[in-house]
Amino acid sequence: MNLLFLFIPIIILFLFFWWIFPLFFHGIPWQPTDMKRVKRMLEMADLKPDETLYDLGCGDGRILIYAAQKYHAKAVGIEINPWLFALSWIRVFFLGLKHRVRVDLKNIHEVSLQNADVVTIFLYQNVNDLLREKFLKELKPGARIISYVWILKDWDPDLVDQEYRLYKYIR
Ligand SMILES: C[S@@+](CC[C@H](N)C(=O)[O-])C[C@H]1O[C@@H](n2cnc3c(N)ncnc32)[C@H](O)[C@@H]1O
Repeated sequence: MNLLFLFIPIIILFLFFWWIFPLFFHGIPWQPTDMKRVKRMLEMADLKPDETLYDLGCGDGRILIYAAQKYHAKAVGIEINPWLFALSWIRVFFLGLKHRVRVDLKNIHEVSLQNADVVTIFLYQNVNDLLREKFLKELKPGARIISYVWILKDWDPDLVDQEYRLYKYIR
């Protein structure tokens, strides 16, 4: 009985430090992109069947799911928030999309983008500034980046949707 009382606080502390505490240090909150923008993003990306889309900071996985269901693309979601990672994973699993969609609990700055044909981002300007170098270094020529709200500085967009605040860049 005494052991149980010791065990429960340890589990709570573990969950707090591993799952909740890190969120305070990754300042970008989860703000899902509305579905009409998701549709427009993938239209602008000109995503083809069997191409691979990466959503950097995938939230609840909505872009991945739409890419797999409507475009028959492969999709990889990178998410640092364990709760959102779990939510995406569960959605993908129950929609029967595990063969097309992978979700990784990782930091976007620590994943390789060499397999990406399309990258979608809805982050912050300072994060886009950091990603710009990574895109130039890792993305294959012809890969498309679709950014919602924030731009890639010193990189001319190939297409802009002013109304939806979407920017398309080609590597
Ligand atoms: C504004 S939301 C966008 C969610 C999703 N892409 C969408 O459009 O609906 C940004 C997401 O990025 C995640 N995120 C922020 N920093 C991250 C990092 N360094 N690595 C991985 N994910 C990150 C957040 O947890 C959040 O889910």
